[in-house]
Amino acid sequence: MSRLKKYFLFLLCTCLCFVQLTADDVRDTLHQPEKVMDLVGLKPGMTVGEVGAGHGYFTFKLSQRVGERGKVYANDISRSALKYLRGRCEREGITNIETVLGEVEDPLLPEDLDMVFIVNAFHDFSKPVELLNNLSISLKPGAPVVILDRDPEKLEHPTSHFLSKEELLKKIEESVFELERMESFLPQHNIYIIRVKKS
Ligand SMILES: C[S@@+](CC[C@H](N)C(=O)[O-])C[C@H]1O[C@@H](n2cnc3c(N)ncnc32)[C@H](O)[C@@H]1O
Repeated sequence: MSRLKKYFLFLLCTCLCFVQLTADDVRDTLHQPEKVMDLVGLKPGMTVGEVGAGHGYFTFKLSQRVGERGKVYANDISRSALKYLRGRCEREGITNIETVLGEVEDPLLPEDLDMVFIVNAFHDFSKPVELLNNLSISLKPGAPVVILDRDPEKLEHPTSHFLSKEELLKKIEESVFELERMESFLPQHNIYIIRVKKS
């Protein structure tokens, strides 16, 4: 490869890293991941799941928090997103993330999870009630599911792509879960902490 080509390749990689870092900075302001993880009591050594992990913005925060003794099962229905996640884990030597290819109605996560996160993905689920019901068997008794989702009311230009607070709460009510607590301190999102209904 010529020197000029190498130089442009280097420049391109630097730019891409910069864009990724800037995007993550913006998301850190929007999602305040450390505050969210503190709020729900996420601790080193825990085993957690993430449904709809995508390219792993929140997955890597979870991985850092649970540490070497903990584990993160990152689910998605997109093979390419999970491939990207595995590639990043390999490049960065991260060993506590395992990817799980799910089905539309069932995340197929293992049992005995301490907590499950759904970040920016709930509104994209085509069968959210069925997915929640299937997810419930993966949780330890009383363990929470933490949903972070955009609230269209908080957006400058509201869009029907996102579920309103009422619509999202209705989906939860229709499932085996119930709302324990909702937090609205994030600028664009609400945090819904839900647990399986006590019969
Ligand atoms: C908007 S992206 C969010 C990705 C990531 N959580 C984030 O915050 O960057 C939504 C993700 O949900 C995934 N998804 C959609 N339906 C799903 C389902 N039924 N089960 C699991 N993942 C699903 C999509 O493939 C996509 O990766």
